[in-house]
Amino acid sequence: MADIAQLLGTMITYYNGDPKRIQHFVKVHDLARTIGVLEGLDQKTLLILEAAAAVHDIGIRICELKYGKCDGALQELEGPPLAGDMLRALGFDESVTERVCWLVGHHHSYNEIDSWDHQILVEADLLVNLYEDGSSKETIRNAYEKMFSTETGKLFCRKIFDL
Ligand SMILES: [Fe+2]
Repeated sequence: MADIAQLLGTMITYYNGDPKRIQHFVKVHDLARTIGVLEGLDQKTLLILEAAAAVHDIGIRICELKYGKCDGALQELEGPPLAGDMLRALGFDESVTERVCWLVGHHHSYNEIDSWDHQILVEADLLVNLYEDGSSKETIRNAYEKMFSTETGKLFCRKIFDL
């Protein structure tokens, strides 16, 4: 039975020697899971969210190797097939794998959000990116007002950044 710990372990191995990326997706996974649990997601949606958070940036490494850059559009192109291979190899259900691949391919597509797994993945990634990028208070406030919609994600944003 595939589980999230195995997936995180596989991702850590895949990103060997890149502690910054590893610390990033470990943090995004933890925040996504915490928001998902506190928002009352059902078990299957929570599994999808956690798996998607663990692998959401899986395309970065191959983009850097292939193109020498890793913008959002390239990642969304290269990431889903890699995520699919990894989840299938670990035995995740096909319905879970397909949804995770879709989320990996849309995690920078902020105008297409119409579901909780997608929304919470974006919120968790933002909470980590706003910190890691050293964003200004103005940028953070703008993201808070435009991008966050769960009560838990909004609360975490206010508390983490002292808004
Ligand atoms: Fe990310």
